[in-house]
Amino acid sequence: MRNRTQVGIVGAGPAGLMLSHLLHGAGVESVVLEIKSRADVEATLRAAVLEQGTVDLLVSTGVGERMLREGAVHRGVHLRFGGRSHRIDFPSQTGGRAITLYPQHEVLRDLIAARLAAGGDVRFEVSDVRLDGLDGDAPRIRFAAGGVAQELRCDFIAGCDGFHGVSRPSIPPGVLTEHVHDYPFGWLGTLVEAPAVTGEIVYAHSRRGFALVSTRTPSVQRYYLQCDPHDEVDAWPDERIWAELHGRLAGEDGWRLAEGPIFQKGVIAMRSYVVEPMQRGRLFLAGDAAHIVPPTGAKGLNLAISDVRLLAEAIVESYARVRRDLLDRYSATALKRVWRAQHFAWWMTAMLHRFPGDDEFQVRLQLAQLEQVTSSPAASTMLAESYVGAF
Ligand code: FAD
Ligand code: DHB
Repeated sequence: MRNRTQVGIVGAGPAGLMLSHLLHGAGVESVVLEIKSRADVEATLRAAVLEQGTVDLLVSTGVGERMLREGAVHRGVHLRFGGRSHRIDFPSQTGGRAITLYPQHEVLRDLIAARLAAGGDVRFEVSDVRLDGLDGDAPRIRFAAGGVAQELRCDFIAGCDGFHGVSRPSIPPGVLTEHVHDYPFGWLGTLVEAPAVTGEIVYAHSRRGFALVSTRTPSVQRYYLQCDPHDEVDAWPDERIWAELHGRLAGEDGWRLAEGPIFQKGVIAMRSYVVEPMQRGRLFLAGDAAHIVPPTGAKGLNLAISDVRLLAEAIVESYARVRRDLLDRYSATALKRVWRAQHFAWWMTAMLHRFPGDDEFQVRLQLAQLEQVTSSPAASTMLAESYVGAF
């Protein structure tokens, strides 16, 4: 096992694996260290909405073949309120862009397969990861593998270890500024064996709370319900889930979901978080290690990919031209997009959810906003552009 590499990458999520893949394509070597097993990484259920830019990057770097075959292209979404659905078309308002539904763990399977096929060094089930020497020219990652202590010397370290990782806390206190916003609700996510009743995602506003209808395959659907952030899944027996889904989606058009066995349930907390800058010395943060968005805008995975696209380009430039301009600008450049996405996710969340204490005035404001978004071409284009990632 090598104990020296150009870029030490902490975390084999979308950010870490994509970074390793992009660097390899440009001739820069990396080692990826991951605490979970490969099987766990490949089985963790999370996001599924890929922006056009994410899709294009996967295809242009040779890891998009299965996504093109098995993913579903969606050319619009529906906003449902006042008992009716209103479609927002993407291609006509965004210069031909769309989104693709392809689950995050499938993206990870494809990236892991590509890294290993190319002889990439991805080490699963490591433990006790610690970062050292961030301010010098030779940062190090200490970790244990199979119970044996090891050290990896690097030129750069990429902290791609998610919100609960070690990279961000390795930065000395006082260096980072944190921006945090917690929401007073969560999402109950379900997987259901049932046929699809709509070809596109439905975001539903209702006085009973938010509901989201998404899909995985023609026979497996993904439904979400706004819930208390402290709810355990036991608080949500199947009958309650169906009653809330039907109640929140009910309308004069009679549109109704098909029921089926619910085989997975989980509660997701909702938080907005940004840390600035996304760098300390030779440590660069990317993805959830630096920012979290509420899932309403489907931006988390896409931001992780756009961060590492910038970071890869900057690292490659620093080797090719012995210049660090792009690396020096990485944090500022990435944060521009992060804040745009933060705003979109917050705006979608505020427009669609029932907040504790909301009175009818607040509900009417939300409905007025939804009317505008679905009837004004300018407002609708704004949503479409943000959703497909054209910002
Ligand atoms: P992660 O995917 O978190 O990957 C980080 C990796 O680092 C993990 O594999 C972790 O095991 C590893 N790691 C952690 N600590 C260490 C350590 N000390 N050493 C080494 N490795 C470490 N986004 C959406 O857009 N829509 C959704 O519906 C949606 N659902 C979500 C549901 C859940 C439960 C969660 C948690 C997130 C969801 N997201 C969703 C967000 C999206 O999945 C994330 O934004 C995305 O995974 C970020 O990728 P990442 O690579 O930055 O981090
Ligand atoms: C899905 C998740 C989201 O957060 C979202 O906004 C749309 C779809 C999904 O899991 O399919």
